[in-house]
Amino acid sequence: MKKIIASGNRASGRLHIGHLKLLEHWASLQDEYDCYFFIADLHALTTEYQDTGKVAEYSRDIFIDWLSVGLDPKKSHLFVQSHVPAHSELFVLFSMFTKLGRLYRVPTYKERLREDETHSLVTLGFLGYPVLQAADILMYRANYVPVGLDQVSHVELTREVARDFNRLYGDVFPVPDVLLNKTPNLPGTDGRKMSKSYGNCIYISDGPDTLRKKIATMFSNPERKRRSDPGDAEKCNVYAFHKAFTDDETLARIKAKCKDASIGCVECKRILLENLVEALSGPQEMRRRIEGDPGYLDDVLRKGREGASAAADMTMSNVRKALGLW
Ligand code: TRP
Repeated sequence: MKKIIASGNRASGRLHIGHLKLLEHWASLQDEYDCYFFIADLHALTTEYQDTGKVAEYSRDIFIDWLSVGLDPKKSHLFVQSHVPAHSELFVLFSMFTKLGRLYRVPTYKERLREDETHSLVTLGFLGYPVLQAADILMYRANYVPVGLDQVSHVELTREVARDFNRLYGDVFPVPDVLLNKTPNLPGTDGRKMSKSYGNCIYISDGPDTLRKKIATMFSNPERKRRSDPGDAEKCNVYAFHKAFTDDETLARIKAKCKDASIGCVECKRILLENLVEALSGPQEMRRRIEGDPGYLDDVLRKGREGASAAADMTMSNVRKALGLW
């Protein structure tokens, strides 16, 4: 029997090229594992509850990105979290024994709350975010959860929820492990973390014209002020992108030529633009095909929902039995 994988993307914005490596990692797992990938639209509501108008649009957009980078409905279960209501039910059951003190200590919670000047996130839903995530993962009895570093503390909480449940009610859930995606995070076009709220994202669906504009205004190494100044690629934001999208040989050449000032930032950016356009052209072609065939998307969604629901029903039946519900 194949081991099981579960992971999701929060439906809180379009996916940017920082997500691309994570998705390629997911796609590479599809043959070896039984995979459950979902759009976490309920998780989006934990922060967007005052303005829910975009959640459906983001969900659809991310779903198309998935298909366009090679997540394959013939191999994996691809679905939307809220289409399988059992996620919410399992969340309620887990909330019975999850201690508030433990949730207040989750690092992502503490960080986000610190930035929340209007106290709009002092809600049950937001505090429960990682409990809902535990429900997502344990629902499919996942053995592995492929995520980036930022999610490790949530998987840790998931492991504790699994152990607590098993101890209290009997052995129902495997304790899942993180499958860490080690590619370093891409910075944004301004060198800060790539984030929708900074307006510094390059999106998977950005076409050549948009890419040209974004790359032209991208920050490079602020210490290299004149074309004749020798540079240091490791201090350059543009080079961080080259590392992700340029072949090793060219990469080494750029680095050396930057150091002796025989290549300028304009030329260096031109090479990056070419490589990015090339890397995104496949997914963008695929997106056009999917958007031209709405019936296909509906079919994929239905199939995903059916497969996930069947697995969820089985888990919920075991859970109800273990709890002794009538
Ligand atoms: N919290 C994750 C993120 O922000 C999204 C997510 C929701 C998730 N449920 C999950 C990831 C379950 C892995 C497994 O990226």
